[in-house]
Amino acid sequence: MYGGAMSHTQSAAAVRTKDRFLVFGAPAIEDAEIQEVLATMRSGWLGTGPKTARFEVEMARYKQSPHAVALNSCTAALHLALLAAGVGPGDEVITTPLTFCATVNAIVHAGATPVLADIDPVTYNIDPAAVERAITPRTKALLPVHYAGRPCNMDALCELARRFELTLIEDCAHAIETRYHGRAAGTFGEFGCLSFYVTKNIVTGEGGMVLTRNESDAARIKVLGLHGMSKDAWKRFGDDGYKHYQVVDAGFKYNMMDLQAAIGLHQLERIERYWLRRRAIWQRYDEALANLPVERPAPPEANTRHAFHLYTLLIDAARTGITRDAFLDAMTKHHIGVGVHYLSVPEHPFYQGRFGWAPEQWPNAMRVGRQTVSLPLSARLTDEDVGDVIEAVRRSLRTVPRGMALASEIA
Ligand SMILES: Cc1ncc(COP(=O)(O)O)c(C=O)c1O
Repeated sequence: MYGGAMSHTQSAAAVRTKDRFLVFGAPAIEDAEIQEVLATMRSGWLGTGPKTARFEVEMARYKQSPHAVALNSCTAALHLALLAAGVGPGDEVITTPLTFCATVNAIVHAGATPVLADIDPVTYNIDPAAVERAITPRTKALLPVHYAGRPCNMDALCELARRFELTLIEDCAHAIETRYHGRAAGTFGEFGCLSFYVTKNIVTGEGGMVLTRNESDAARIKVLGLHGMSKDAWKRFGDDGYKHYQVVDAGFKYNMMDLQAAIGLHQLERIERYWLRRRAIWQRYDEALANLPVERPAPPEANTRHAFHLYTLLIDAARTGITRDAFLDAMTKHHIGVGVHYLSVPEHPFYQGRFGWAPEQWPNAMRVGRQTVSLPLSARLTDEDVGDVIEAVRRSLRTVPRGMALASEIA
């Protein structure tokens, strides 16, 4: 039944027209944040200020985290969390090969050595047994990623962190809404790092945040995030009169602006509505694509909350008759934007050259990375958009029986 109905080179009418290209990851933006951005611009205070401080308070409340420090990216959050944890040259940090390069680069920028532990082939999250095998006397921290918004096995990872006295830093770039056994992702370890990048579940354009339990860690991250200037240096131009600051460390320019927080504050108010919408889209994909010869994401685990950040399909050419990359091209021809999250980290030349890694050393991540495709999953999508994605998947896989017209061709 699969393949053969049409040759893969044969062109068919696209599901959508070019001028209606469905951009992968385009966020839902509403009038409230547009007005707040305008008001911020008119106020004259565009940079780090009271809105950033309010966004930190609101996010800390949402995540039930004692402290939160807003920064300009999750990459910055990861870097400063590692520095605050005291990670540096001579230390090893264990992370997953199925992540964005930023996770590994942050470890490199902290001066430490990244060590990869393979993923579980079903959940795509780091496998605690592989983590345990990778621990050495030099291991200082664990940096798991809640891939696609599905929580990692935090019972096992927390137990390892305790047993081997490791700092636990959670990469929550996909996991703002994620919960595990009643607790928010990002609050299990010493640090949790969030992303508000344009494709994320809530956005500020660029933006990130560190969650931490410890007041002194929050203060250190705040100082490191603004040039190493003494705490609250951003207030120096306020109406209390000019304040001198002291530079107490060689810090970075990682601070979030009020212009960004203006967007995030309103996005955060809608986080549940957006989550419900993405869950509904996820469920629709799951039902509509169930009979196709592709691997769909594992169902969410009981007693957890999946953040539904990515909906992925694995395209195995042996089953579908079409390679993953040909499938990506076919979806684009139907004017549906798709993503790849991710080619496994050791596929990239920098890591091969620097660390001598080869993708085959982490076979589960290699397989997923070579077969995975992410479908659009934004709260912005209409029911019609979702129908178009489903139809484009079917057509790209050539699973429409010969002679049978598709709904859009009849219409
Ligand atoms: C898993 C993961 N970690 C880290 C990052 C970096 O986030 P940011 O773009 O906010 O620096 C991303 C962003 O795509 C990500 O997906």
